[in-house]
Formats: sequence, structure tokens, C-alpha cells
Amino acid sequence: MKVLLVGSGGREHALAWKLKQSSHCTHLFCAPGNPGMAALGTCVGVRADDIPELIAFAHDMHIELTVVGPETPLAAGLVDAFQKEGLPIFGPTRAAARIETSKAFAKTVMKMKGVPAGRAVPCPNEARALAALDEFTPPYVIKADGLAAGKGVVIAPDRAAAETAIRTMMRDRAFGAAGDLVLVEEFLDGEEVSLFAISDGRRGLAMVPAQDHKRIGDGDTGPNTGGMGAYTPVPHLAAGVVDEAMARVITPVIEGMAEQGTPFRGLLYAGLILTRDGLKVIEFNCRFGDPETQAVLPLLDEDLLLLMMESVGTGFARDRLRFSRGAAACVVAASGGYPGEYRSGLAIQGLEAAGATGALIFHAGTRMMDGSLRTAGGRVLNVVGRAASLEGAVAAAYTALEQITFDGMHYRRDIASRALTRRTP
Ligand code: AMP
Ligand code: GLY
Repeated sequence: MKVLLVGSGGREHALAWKLKQSSHCTHLFCAPGNPGMAALGTCVGVRADDIPELIAFAHDMHIELTVVGPETPLAAGLVDAFQKEGLPIFGPTRAAARIETSKAFAKTVMKMKGVPAGRAVPCPNEARALAALDEFTPPYVIKADGLAAGKGVVIAPDRAAAETAIRTMMRDRAFGAAGDLVLVEEFLDGEEVSLFAISDGRRGLAMVPAQDHKRIGDGDTGPNTGGMGAYTPVPHLAAGVVDEAMARVITPVIEGMAEQGTPFRGLLYAGLILTRDGLKVIEFNCRFGDPETQAVLPLLDEDLLLLMMESVGTGFARDRLRFSRGAAACVVAASGGYPGEYRSGLAIQGLEAAGATGALIFHAGTRMMDGSLRTAGGRVLNVVGRAASLEGAVAAAYTALEQITFDGMHYRRDIASRALTRRTP
């Protein structure tokens, strides 16, 4: 089978690595891909958001399955456009992707199905949003409704900060149309966990839960980033959390989407928080998480290509997914200055030695220049250690990372420490 993978980050490199292991994958194309993915397939010079070019390529090369990594092309209707052409594609339609692209829509589906979530007031204008603050106590949570590249949530410690956030989104339109509707939401406190479920439109199959590290600094300090590391499994979760999340969150949402005539096929990512009042949803994403995917897929003991074919076609022929025992930890090597300004084009050394330790090295922001590998993004490399224990997986990731150098490189030293310093409840 000829497969086309759309995207170019660490998540897509991990997807490429896993898809390539399928005996059904005869050739993998990546649009546009990255230097790491070039070792697994053919990178083609088509951008992830160039829908007409992607369609032309898929027709010309007789692509039998296209897999979409990032949310932007899903929000732009890439899946709808492929379906119209009769081209098989894994991922939700534009209407189904609204579970991520409109937080208000996600709230409506959750309300309809009784899915536990924080109380929220959708506000179509500044006056309504300012008034809605009266209905909450600090800290205030202000969210832009639409896609805002992970920056659309402000946790405001006091009323003045909340008002500033509302004005920034609604008056200054810091996130453009994404902030034309804002949600004022109840603040939720607790352990966060990312749960992926692959869906065939009728039901979801759970993957192992993972935990992300959003802040730049050790001990969860400093500004938010796209994610500085992830690990799986999450040993300090109470037993039964995944089953509970499937029963109370994933299954009702998949049913609700189908009932509305917008069935969700693809990867449904639930961002969950375990509060004192029980499990609640923080958000949904309509695609694999980055960098959780880089930790989760190495443990998946299934043919991902077959699973995706089932999702697109006849539905799943199984009730649950198998995962290997053991653990995986992903540490992100970032450019100096990230998530603020950073330099690009810096030479990267030591990848061969790092790979020789047995760790997986996924490229997130790299490119080839004059025959050498250079940095080309804020998050540059994802180093994944695997071992029987979480301690072992973390140690393996850091051992490999010590081999790698580029000017200004920095990474968090405390990936998975929340799990390693805690006891199972
Ligand atoms: P999101 O963009 O929806 O993933 O939110 C980014 C981060 O903001 C989440 O991972 C949480 O840490 C935090 N967050 C979002 N909503 C809430 C909430 N209602 N209460 C507390 N933290 C939140
Ligand atoms: N890891 C967070 C995200 O992918 O949105």
C-alpha cells in the first residue's frame, strides 16, 4: 500500500516510523516531511496546507491512504476535499474537527451527552464577557473559541488580568477570528492527562494515557510551549481512570457526534483533569498530540496502518488495543530562547551516537543545509527512551540526549518527575 503522510514535525516523524513498520506499507511519502522522515520515505515538496497539490499528488501516485498529522489542514477541510475525490484519508472532516476548532461546539456536545466538564459561559462580545466574570471566582479562565496555536487560554489570577485577557482577545483581536467568541470558564485544579482514542465513527479504542509538560522550565515554571516532553504510562493515575474516561467521555462524545450527523473518524484526543470532584474534560483535539504521540506509539503493539484503514473503511475488527508493557519517555531538545525568539540554521551534532544508545530520535524542527543537519524550529528534536520501567525510560532518553549538541540547545531535566516522586494513589 502506498501511504501519504501530511505534516513535518516530531509527531509526524513518530507516525511515519510506526506506519513504516506495517507489512502493508510498501511506500511512504511525506508532504512535506523533514530530514528524519526522509530516512523512512520520500519527502515531497508539497505543503501540508496545499489541498489542491495534495489531491493531485495522491491521484498521480495512486495513494491508497493519506494520514493527516496537524489540525490546521483538518480545520481547512482537507479530509472533505479528499473524500469528494474518492481518496481514502484518515482524519475527521471539517465539521467533525470542530470538536477542537470550536471550544463552544465541544461544550455543546459535552452538555448534550452529560460529559463532565468545567462550567463555561460562551460570550459573543466584550461586554458579555466582562459581565460573565461576576459568575466566577479567581483564578479566571479565559479561552478563545477557535484555534490559537496553543496560546488561546489565559489563566488570570485576578479580575484586572481577566479583563485584560478579554480585551486582548476581543478588542485587539490578538488571535484574529478565533477570539470573536470567548469562553469564561471555571478553573479546574488537578492532575492533567492526555488520552488518545482512535475512532471509526461509531466507537473509540483507547491508547495508553500520557502526560505532557507544557511549561518551558523545570518544575513547571515559565511560559507555555508546544510541549517539552511526555511520558507513558502515568503510574500515579488511579486504576480504572482510562475505563472511566472511555465510558464517560470518549464513548458519549463519539455517539453524540454521530447523532448530530458529523461522525468523528480519526484520532480523538481528550485533555482530562482529575479534580477532587472527579474527572473532567479540559479540551478535545481532533488529532494526535505532540509530543505525547512520540511516547505512546513506541508502545503500541498493533499495526497502525491497519487500524487507520479500519477507521476509514469498515470499522474496527477488535475491541481493544494491545500495548507492550514498559514505559517510554520523550524529551524535547529546544532552541535557545524558545518559546520566545530563537536562532535557526545552527549545526546539530551527535545524532548517530545518540541513536546508537537505542533511543529513538524524532526530528521536530530540522533541515539539511550544505549537506549538514541544522536547526529549523523552536522544538528541534524529540529523544525517546524506552525501558521496562519509567525510571529506565527517562534515564535512556537523557543518556541519548547527552550525545547531542547544538548551539543554545536546552531541555527540561525533570520529564516524568511528577510520576517518579509520587506513589500510586
Ligand atoms: P488548552 O489550550 O485548552 O489545551 O489549554 C491549555 C492549558 O491551559 C491546559 O493544558 C491547562 O493546563 C490549562 N487550562 C485550560 N482550561 C483550564 C481550566 N478550566 N482550569 C485550569 N486550567 C485550564
Ligand atoms: N500536547 C498538546 C497538544 O498536542 O495539543
